[in-house]
Amino acid sequence: MPLTPDPMAYAEVRRAYDTVAADYAAYLPDTRAEARLDLAMVDAFADAVSTGEDPIVLDAGCGAGRLSRYVADRGCRTQGVDLSPGMIAMARRDHPDLGFAVGSLTALPFARDRFAGVLLWYSIIHTPPSGLAQVCREAARVLRRGGHLLVGFQAGVGIRDVSAAYRGFGHEVRLERYCYSPDTVADHLEATGLREVSRLVRRSLTAHERDDQAMLLARLG
Ligand SMILES: C[S@@+](CC[C@H](N)C(=O)[O-])C[C@H]1O[C@@H](n2cnc3c(N)ncnc32)[C@H](O)[C@@H]1O
Repeated sequence: MPLTPDPMAYAEVRRAYDTVAADYAAYLPDTRAEARLDLAMVDAFADAVSTGEDPIVLDAGCGAGRLSRYVADRGCRTQGVDLSPGMIAMARRDHPDLGFAVGSLTALPFARDRFAGVLLWYSIIHTPPSGLAQVCREAARVLRRGGHLLVGFQAGVGIRDVSAAYRGFGHEVRLERYCYSPDTVADHLEATGLREVSRLVRRSLTAHERDDQAMLLARLG
């Protein structure tokens, strides 16, 4: 298990999600906010995992667990992990039959080769470019050979301040997210042995989406 400590930057992310956890869980209880196109990629991922042996998925950056529920309903066993104890408390409350743990994408608290699938659903978005390689290495480490990884994120360049979105709920948090080009993420995955199977890049469909959205499906080895 790597001993890499969390960069200080993640303390702010943890604090922000701890603060907004209850409202996040209430506002996004399931995947009804996801576009059908996006869910088609999650369906393809769940299908690839569930048809294999011991179909266990790590929902990495699981938040309040709504994607864990979605893939569990599609034939996968799940384990969620998130930086924020507040989000994990919501996940345990709302999905008591599923497994959740507190931990970081930069040092996943799981053994090598443990999972048939790793889902990174909008959880790399608070990882700065300098940390992306480590997050991809960790995902690949816990994934079995032949296993699948699905990553969803905002496509583009630059940093967005998303604090205002939470001010609407009465929370004074400081939270930024990073946009990434799909090629950059694919290159980082490739460097760990994760080969791209397919990608979806789509334009924003609603007013609250400020950027294009990207999903990459990759396979280890
Ligand atoms: C936008 S939310 C998405 C949550 C969930 N995947 C969903 O779709 O509802 C981002 C989540 O990633 C988690 N996160 C961000 N950076 C992380 C890290 N380095 N390690 C673990 N979790 C992280 C946050 O705590 C937060 O719960």
